[in-house]
Amino acid sequence: MTSDQPLPSPEIAPADGRLGVVCVGLGAVATTFIAGVELIRRGMAEPFGSLTQLGTIRLGKRTEERAPLIREFVPLSGLDDLVFGAWDPFEDDAYVSAVKAGVLDVGRHLEPIAEALRDIQPMPAAFDPAYVKRLDGPNVMADRSKRGQLEGIRDDLRAFRERHGCDRMVMIWCASTEVFVDPGPAHADLDRFVAAIDADDPAITPSMLYAYAALLEGVPFANGAPNLTVDIPALRDLASASGVPICGKDFKTGQTMVKTALAPMFKARMLGMDGWYSTNILGNRDGEVLDDPESFRTKETSKLGVLDTILQPDVYPQLYGDIDHVVRINYYPPRGDNKEGWDNIDFFGWLGYPMQMKVNFLCRDSILAAPLALDLTLFLDLAQRAGMAGIQEWLSFYFKAPQVAPGLYPEHDLFIQHTKLKNTLRWMMGEEQITHLGVEYYAEDYLPQD
Ligand SMILES: NC(=O)c1ccc[n+]([C@@H]2O[C@H](COP(=O)([O-])OP(=O)(O)OC[C@H]3O[C@@H](n4cnc5c(N)ncnc54)[C@H](O)[C@@H]3O)[C@@H](O)[C@H]2O)c1
Repeated sequence: MTSDQPLPSPEIAPADGRLGVVCVGLGAVATTFIAGVELIRRGMAEPFGSLTQLGTIRLGKRTEERAPLIREFVPLSGLDDLVFGAWDPFEDDAYVSAVKAGVLDVGRHLEPIAEALRDIQPMPAAFDPAYVKRLDGPNVMADRSKRGQLEGIRDDLRAFRERHGCDRMVMIWCASTEVFVDPGPAHADLDRFVAAIDADDPAITPSMLYAYAALLEGVPFANGAPNLTVDIPALRDLASASGVPICGKDFKTGQTMVKTALAPMFKARMLGMDGWYSTNILGNRDGEVLDDPESFRTKETSKLGVLDTILQPDVYPQLYGDIDHVVRINYYPPRGDNKEGWDNIDFFGWLGYPMQMKVNFLCRDSILAAPLALDLTLFLDLAQRAGMAGIQEWLSFYFKAPQVAPGLYPEHDLFIQHTKLKNTLRWMMGEEQITHLGVEYYAEDYLPQD
């Protein structure tokens, strides 16, 4: 349904009580997220990288000087109210897994919260090595049928809610990238989707079972990996019909964050482009999984999509009609989670003179991803309390391949995404939209004087 009228701002239920956060996958990103929250709520670290914790939002005219913190403007859950759980095919608790991931300093950042991390024992996973070829672990559900796994995840959600006295929950996919799956007939509507589950159809991936279980249990779902997962008609329609917010795909953290900040600059100045070559080395488990060509294909599709929608080669064929866009990921164990990305951009300016820009980004994958997981958790919960069901396009800011309503193209420009997010918060709270027009400040100059 579309409407030409601005929609009325929603009523938002208060963020009272406990919010259960269940991570699918207890690897580098999930443990860095959980450990970070544990440290921050004890006042032992700062939530750098998190818009919900540090960002402010301007309201009204510039002369009004109103710019509260986002977390004081919209009713978000406080960090003390979060309670964590996870599934993983490996038996390591969050402490052991975090030590193995090698992201955080053991003495400084894991020992002080070791007890809280050890309490997070992964639940047996709905896992099938056919979808993540480089991994296999023992901590898996006994019933390997897709129906059995679906019911197992639903039982886990109910038991977790009960055990921890959660008022609300959010599920976030922080698990490995699954092999590439094309959307097909089994995903087209709920009847066929359910029939495919009962027939153990390979088109139904483990991530779809988690997402479906979440929707059936009224739990919002975010997809931090590029898998299809909840981006299929059957689950999109179910999310809308059952009043549950969803979003994805693939956390926008390193190279793609840079790409979606730089590409709008070239485009804004009408500088042309011959090629953009991106390569990465990384040595964590994610890198190992992405070393499998089928998982890499899922990631590559997600990473390649961004340039076309930003640069619009169909509108500007003379500038962007013939770009060689290449993305490579190389598994290189010595680097662990400390990914290094190189970008080489061949672009041209006035009269066609060529220039180059080179970016060498020495980043930390999970350090960049963890605050995104936190923001998504808090914003998805906010969306649910505001009655905003289905796709949350305003959270595109966090994703490489944002989910959008059918028929829309995704918005990839980081700054448009940022504006969209903040304007959505303003709309939710009944505040004026900020268009940056600002002619009212120049009324005396612009209006005819008599
Ligand atoms: N900057 C980033 O770190 C970043 C950015 C974008 C996307 N991602 C994606 O986030 C995901 C997590 O990244 P990571 O670095 O934490 O990887 P990781 O390999 O450290 O952790 C993933 C965990 O998921 C588990 N897993 C796999 N299949 C599962 C299943 N069916 N059920 C439950 N657990 C399962 C694995 O055993 C592993 O422990 C990956 O898909 C990655 O591509 C990460």
